[in-house]
Amino acid sequence: MKDKLKDAIEILKNHGVVGMPTETVYGLAASIDSEDGIKKIFSTKERPFFDPLIVHVSSIDQAKTYVKSWPNLCDQLAQKYWPGPLTFILPKNDNVSDMITSGLDTVGIRLPKHPIAQELINKLGTPVAAPSANKFKKTSPTKATHVQNEFPEVHVLEGGDSEIGIESTIIGFEENMIKIYRPGMIGKDELQELFEGQDVEIEYVESPVAPGHLKHHYMPKTPLVTFIQKDESHSLDLNLLPDELKESPSYWHMPTDANLCARELYSKFKEFDTAGCSAIIIPIPDSYLEADQWKGILNRLKKAASIKIDLPK
Ligand code: TXA
Ligand code: MG
Repeated sequence: MKDKLKDAIEILKNHGVVGMPTETVYGLAASIDSEDGIKKIFSTKERPFFDPLIVHVSSIDQAKTYVKSWPNLCDQLAQKYWPGPLTFILPKNDNVSDMITSGLDTVGIRLPKHPIAQELINKLGTPVAAPSANKFKKTSPTKATHVQNEFPEVHVLEGGDSEIGIESTIIGFEENMIKIYRPGMIGKDELQELFEGQDVEIEYVESPVAPGHLKHHYMPKTPLVTFIQKDESHSLDLNLLPDELKESPSYWHMPTDANLCARELYSKFKEFDTAGCSAIIIPIPDSYLEADQWKGILNRLKKAASIKIDLPK
């Protein structure tokens, strides 16, 4: 492992990219100081340049050197959630290149919890930009083998299964408001608790500025069908599906524990892709629709599904 880490640092210093484990999903990392490395992230992923990258740091102090302002709210949040699955969108400093932020004047920044990610950034001495290590719009990887299968040429650090399993919660700030641009496993209710007694408003909004928040994303190769399940006896009327999807569909009943479900979600997509079936059918119990802890998972399912039956907009 030591050698693989050393090699990874050499690759990053030489303007390459490496597969980096994080507690959310695996990332495809390049040094933020290497323009060629950053370009390689986009070309490897076949990602358009209009979709900005998150900068991963190894300390709060380091984060502060890449942003123009650090609202007081960030201190409270960083103290509780960093290292961890929470990304701040803040005004960027001049030392963050426009290629990373796609020309926006803000930067997404996060301190990951995974010890290998921290060690990599620490030893490199520079933060790394890292989107999820998958082809653009496809399912994010939660195992080293997922990354290696998708990008056989890339040097991947083995870090076990990602503990959280879906991407970080992304938040932005406007005075005393926190806007959740991408829901994750840290939800609004949990954040609201942290600010109990303080005049802080929190709301979910689809980011108006993040071009990366596309309608279709996280998609498995096999068509995914979701339907809202009114009660346990309610099953999907297969007549609603096109003929080719009806041939050999597989069902996945999500674990009832949201944390466990998030951990398994992408890995299941990939298992179904390998096994080969005509469709993946996932019932969504209707009681989950308003439950805050399911918000991140439902966001991913909505974007990953080709057919959504009875899912409200
Ligand atoms: O958990 C995660 O966040 C993972 C791991 C690897 O850290 N990373 C990740 O990166 O999910 P990516 O590139 O797959 O998704 C980042 C999202 C994109 O949709 C992008 O549009 C948004 O973050 N983003 C990045 N910079 C932004 C900015 N300045 N303003 C608004 N949105 C931004
Ligand atoms: Mg991604």
